[in-house]
Amino acid sequence: MPENQDPVTSAGEQKARITWRCAVCGFEFTGEKPPRGCPVCHSHADEFIPEKERVRLVYDGEPFDVLLINGSTHRAGNTGYMADIAEALLKDRGITYRRFNLAEHHIEYCWCCYSVRAESCTFPCRNQNDDMPAFHHMLAASKAVIVASPINWNSMSVRLKTFLDRTTCMENLYHLEKPGLTEGKVVGILINGHEDGAIKTAMDVFFNFQQLGYVLAPFGIAFRTHGAQFNSKTDREFFRADEQIVHDTRGIVANVIEVMQIGLEERLKGKLVPVSE
Ligand SMILES: Cc1cc2nc3c(=O)[nH]c(=O)nc-3n(C[C@H](O)[C@H](O)[C@H](O)COP(=O)(O)O)c2cc1C
Repeated sequence: MPENQDPVTSAGEQKARITWRCAVCGFEFTGEKPPRGCPVCHSHADEFIPEKERVRLVYDGEPFDVLLINGSTHRAGNTGYMADIAEALLKDRGITYRRFNLAEHHIEYCWCCYSVRAESCTFPCRNQNDDMPAFHHMLAASKAVIVASPINWNSMSVRLKTFLDRTTCMENLYHLEKPGLTEGKVVGILINGHEDGAIKTAMDVFFNFQQLGYVLAPFGIAFRTHGAQFNSKTDREFFRADEQIVHDTRGIVANVIEVMQIGLEERLKGKLVPVSE
């Protein structure tokens, strides 16, 4: 039996045939359920999603409070687990939110128009070919962002970096002295890693949001690592049994909600002096 197919039942009856795609490497598997793990990239079964035609993400314009971003390559890995904890609390608190796993979205590299001419980089972004324009609109519409990243070489994931590079068109509004879309909003940051580099990673993420005019919630950074002495295959189990990760992640969400509900964004509108590096 090929590894990308499920067996047929003994009665010869065909099981439901769903094409499952590994959101990490693109391996496809046909069967009733996803495989127990990806034979190509060794990802967990939770990375498989039913294959569907890729359609460009569109923001429907419905207002909501919190944009929750899982910046990991794994939609359901350790960073995704932190996003799950955050999402559960947002739900419990009755906060309107939208969650996105960047691994499930098509976001192209920044065209870096800003590097050619400052005026060329403005909102809306010139690249309207992928999911990023919808994210731009949701960044402008939401009151807060909770962003989660794994540590990759002491910094954020490349997916999150690409996402944040693409916010340059919003950041550059301030440089061009145009009305801004993001000042006074709140950010909370969740970092997951194996051994080290969490604070550096969090600060790299924060710096981008700071340049967009976001305020970091007090006690607004949570990070959790396991330890270099352990094989990374034990991380999944470790984090899922760890009380600290739950406490700290929920703390970030609670702190973001508290600041968001003060309504800083409305109060600060038009009063801030944009300053760049
Ligand atoms: C390319 C790469 C670089 C990494 N660099 C670091 C690092 O600098 N510090 C660290 O603590 N963990 C590092 N890790 C480990 C991941 O942060 C860790 O496995 C994390 O739990 C992965 O989250 P995920 O399950 O959401 O992918 C790295 C992993 C990869 C693949």
